[in-house]
Amino acid sequence: MREIIERGTLRRTIILDEEYEMVILDKTNIDEIVDLQDKIVKNLNNPEVFVMDSREFILNSVLEKGKGLAIGVYADNKLIAFRTVSFPGKSEINMGREIDIPLEELDHVAHLESTVVDFGYRGNRLQAKMMKHTFKILSELGYYHILCTVSPFNYPSLKNVMDADLIIKALNKRGGPYEGKWRFLLARDLRNTDTREYTCNVEIENNNLEKQQELLKKGFEGFSLCRNRYVSDEFIIHYGIPYKDHVTNIFE
Ligand SMILES: CC(C)(COP(=O)(O)OP(=O)(O)OC[C@H]1O[C@@H](n2cnc3c(N)ncnc32)[C@H](O)[C@@H]1OP(=O)(O)O)[C@@H](O)C(=O)NCCC(=O)NCCS
Repeated sequence: MREIIERGTLRRTIILDEEYEMVILDKTNIDEIVDLQDKIVKNLNNPEVFVMDSREFILNSVLEKGKGLAIGVYADNKLIAFRTVSFPGKSEINMGREIDIPLEELDHVAHLESTVVDFGYRGNRLQAKMMKHTFKILSELGYYHILCTVSPFNYPSLKNVMDADLIIKALNKRGGPYEGKWRFLLARDLRNTDTREYTCNVEIENNNLEKQQELLKKGFEGFSLCRNRYVSDEFIIHYGIPYKDHVTNIFE
């Protein structure tokens, strides 16, 4: 008997709503996860924005007990969305090493891996809804460093993770399965509940990668997004220096 963690109604079209259930997924759901992921990948407008995880990775690093977790959303008895998470432990792939998370805290790092929402169900904030439950579960399990990578051209995903208070810490071309694709590295420490304040604020277009790298190297962080025109891959990112780190010679 699966445990339902949320129930609600989804807007399908202006005249059609549909009930949904959000549940924790396990290894018995692997085919549904892979099928949904395949469908999304085959129909991506921009292949740059999403790199799919292999079946082996999902089985061994997400659905294996103690290695990660996955949340799914069902509507009409079909898996229509999921979020996967992995726990890298002290392994070399722990992205906490890239942003100087202390060694003794690496076991508290969770990597947000993939989220997908099936085409007909987008716009229902399902990524954000799954994220809320993901954070609650992670916090109960003792994971407080939440890290993820997102393409600088993936407005919906970046908007959702930044609305969940993840902050842009780095921007690089990533290797391995990313095959040199550009990715932001974002992080949130669930132990910090204070509102972050920034100084020296600047606005940069998402596709100005060089400028963003330059600012990040100087200690700036990306903390919010705005989209002036409804063009999914053109938007503005707000950068600033965290107030506590403010130094006067930052532009030298
Ligand atoms: C990213 C994704 C999961 C978000 O789906 P979602 O939860 O239905 O999205 P939301 O309803 O929260 O929308 C978030 C924002 O993106 C916008 N948006 C949603 N889908 C969009 C699309 N296809 N194109 C452009 N903008 C879109 C929404 O209007 C909203 O913007 P706003 O806050 O400025 O109004 C979904 O687009 C998806 O599956 N994409 C392909 C896979 C992927 O890129 N996953 C993320 C990387 S792992």
